[in-house]
Amino acid sequence: MHFSRISLLLAVLHSAVAEQPSAPSPISAPLRGLPWAAGGLNFLHTTDTHGWHGGHLQEAQYSADWGDYISFAHHLRKRADNDGSDLLLIDTGDRVEGNGLYDASNPKGKYTFNIFSQQQIDVITSGNHELYLSNTSNREYQEVVPDFKDSYIASNLDIYSPKTGELQPLAPRFRKFTTKNKGVRILAFGFLFNFHGNANNTVVQPVQETVKEQWFKDAVHERDVDLFLVAGHVPVRDSQEFDLIYKAIRDVHWDTPIVFFGGHTHIRDFRKYDKKAFGIESGRYMETLGFLSISDLSTGKKGEVVAEASPKYERLYIDNNLYSLHHHSNTSKSTFDTELGRNVSRTISDARSKLKLDHTFGCAPQDYWLNRAPYPANDSLLTLLDKQVIPDTFVGVKRPSIVVTNSGAIRFDIFKGPFTIDTTFLVSPFTSTFRLLQDVPYSAASQVLKLLNNEGQITLAGMAVLAGDTDLVRRLPGLAPPLPPVARHILQKHAQSNALLQSAGSPQQVPMSDGDADKPLVPGYTTTDDAGSDGDDTIHQAIQFYDVPNCIGADIGFSSATPTTSVGTPETVDLVYNEFIQDWVLLALRYLGQTYAKEETREALEGKTMTDVISEWVHGHWGCDDKD
Ligand SMILES: *[C@@H]1O[C@H](CO)[C@@H](O)[C@H](O)[C@H]1NC(C)=O
Ligand SMILES: *[C@@H]1O[C@H](CO)[C@@H](O)[C@H](O)[C@H]1NC(C)=O
Ligand SMILES: *[C@@H]1O[C@H](CO)[C@@H](O)[C@H](O)[C@H]1NC(C)=O
Ligand SMILES: *[C@@H]1O[C@H](CO)[C@@H](O)[C@H](O)[C@H]1NC(C)=O
Ligand SMILES: *[C@@H]1O[C@H](CO)[C@@H](O)[C@H](O)[C@H]1NC(C)=O
Repeated sequence: MHFSRISLLLAVLHSAVAEQPSAPSPISAPLRGLPWAAGGLNFLHTTDTHGWHGGHLQEAQYSADWGDYISFAHHLRKRADNDGSDLLLIDTGDRVEGNGLYDASNPKGKYTFNIFSQQQIDVITSGNHELYLSNTSNREYQEVVPDFKDSYIASNLDIYSPKTGELQPLAPRFRKFTTKNKGVRILAFGFLFNFHGNANNTVVQPVQETVKEQWFKDAVHERDVDLFLVAGHVPVRDSQEFDLIYKAIRDVHWDTPIVFFGGHTHIRDFRKYDKKAFGIESGRYMETLGFLSISDLSTGKKGEVVAEASPKYERLYIDNNLYSLHHHSNTSKSTFDTELGRNVSRTISDARSKLKLDHTFGCAPQDYWLNRAPYPANDSLLTLLDKQVIPDTFVGVKRPSIVVTNSGAIRFDIFKGPFTIDTTFLVSPFTSTFRLLQDVPYSAASQVLKLLNNEGQITLAGMAVLAGDTDLVRRLPGLAPPLPPVARHILQKHAQSNALLQSAGSPQQVPMSDGDADKPLVPGYTTTDDAGSDGDDTIHQAIQFYDVPNCIGADIGFSSATPTTSVGTPETVDLVYNEFIQDWVLLALRYLGQTYAKEETREALEGKTMTDVISEWVHGHWGCDDKD
């Protein structure tokens, strides 16, 4: 194993300053070495970056930006040229939506497309987020695909051309190419999982149909292939899509090496399909640069003896900060930046300042966690919402009300320090407004929250099935934040593997792990995958995740309620909720014997969104004592 462990004191390294002016300095920590394949094939993989191309400006561990990634790749390409190996870059989609750098501009993505396309990427695919709005996928077709014309692959994705109206492949179905130094002949596919939520200008072909297409069969039957490369916005584990593709290739080539690059579930993972087929998934939000190498790969070129040895696959999940990037590229602050990398970092900071992303509403006095604190708790973001933000927001409401919102309306933690325009896009990027139903009998309204949290006599899914609403059953996972599925998985296993997210918050000392006093660790991913638990480049302290309810709620103005029942509760209340959960609220009420039509609901809070509510509350309640 390549396992060079360098223990260093935990200290803020001022010699490593990320390019974004407001980014915190990375923290030094014990690192594992890059399992570089000298004379072999090396890959860097990004996925689910969701607009975070400026890096994490409140999390030192992930503070490098896209410009830094460009410099990093440059150094590794040079290393490949020097030792006769190859470096290929892969991106598997969901580049858009989820960060102010993308979402705050009009039109959205005005700046990110030009930033992103400065990186030289060898295989790139679309995620589901590129397809929710027709204008996003049109832009993908008209700008991003031409930018990456030799590398964008769309094996199962078509688009109605905005010019001709004709249905055509978004990009070529596959790509066959030979690597520059080693001459490895690669046949690459680019897939999207069987996604249904796209706008009607794109068509996602189910993978089980794609593998029956003649072009696919022909491609799989190609003879002179040293490696099949399957990039996809598809999880590498428990996904019928990759399993089908794996089987389709193995049916024809029982022995040819295969490599999968996956995404969508936002985790770090590495899966062994068989001894010559492996897949990597590289996290989310620019926290992770996935590295994978294949050594002892036979190229089978004419005249060359085909080696019988099995290729060796190794992976490393790199924390995206300059401390790690300098280390793995054997550079220093003075030798790391390339001109292009520096230019791109500058383009990002220019865009951020044009979008005023650093404009501050107030300063959070402490960290508030979405999943890293139990609920309820002082440091739970959901507790902050139901005990302070919502009651304060509705304080002027004279009628007794119950306010309910889903935890999935919150996307990310709040860190101690400045709460900026950027923060609003991270914490609550959704545009759903509040609605209300007047004069709902208290006996029913007071049960809604319990039902939404599956704490009633019946589960939510059960209610939906009872009502014959299969669409609602399908949308069930959207209620809670997208993080818990993995967190839950961890809790169930009572193991702290695959930790989702680290955040030092501010670069401070953290408790040492037991019995390992000379190696202080920062909290972060502690991934366990099919190759073991040594995949994270930074040796982290594991993070505990907690399950959170689907929905939270607050009772408002009950004391002023008249008339009240004998037990002091109001007879009727206004039921206020986040529009996103309207169908569920109406379903629960119907189950409770109170049937309302959508037309009976009305706008609440003058059309404010959760984002407005939170930023206004922060503005009114959190001052910034010391200017930083
Ligand atoms: C697409 O449309 C939405 C809403 O209509 C708008 O907010 C967004 O900026 C548009 N995006 C692009 C890429 O034009
Ligand atoms: C998509 O839906 C819109 C209406 O929402 C309709 O005008 C348009 O013709 C549809 N396009 C296709 C390709 O079906
Ligand atoms: C790192 O770079 C230095 C010079 O900058 C060189 O002497 C050394 O051999 C390099 N190490 C590796 C592992 O490439
Ligand atoms: C970097 O930006 C400068 C100034 O805009 C420009 O002259 C130069 O060509 C750029 N360099 C690269 C490599 O893009
Ligand atoms: C949590 O809040 C309670 C009540 O306000 C307080 O007594 C306690 O010290 C707080 N705990 C922490 C860890 O801040």
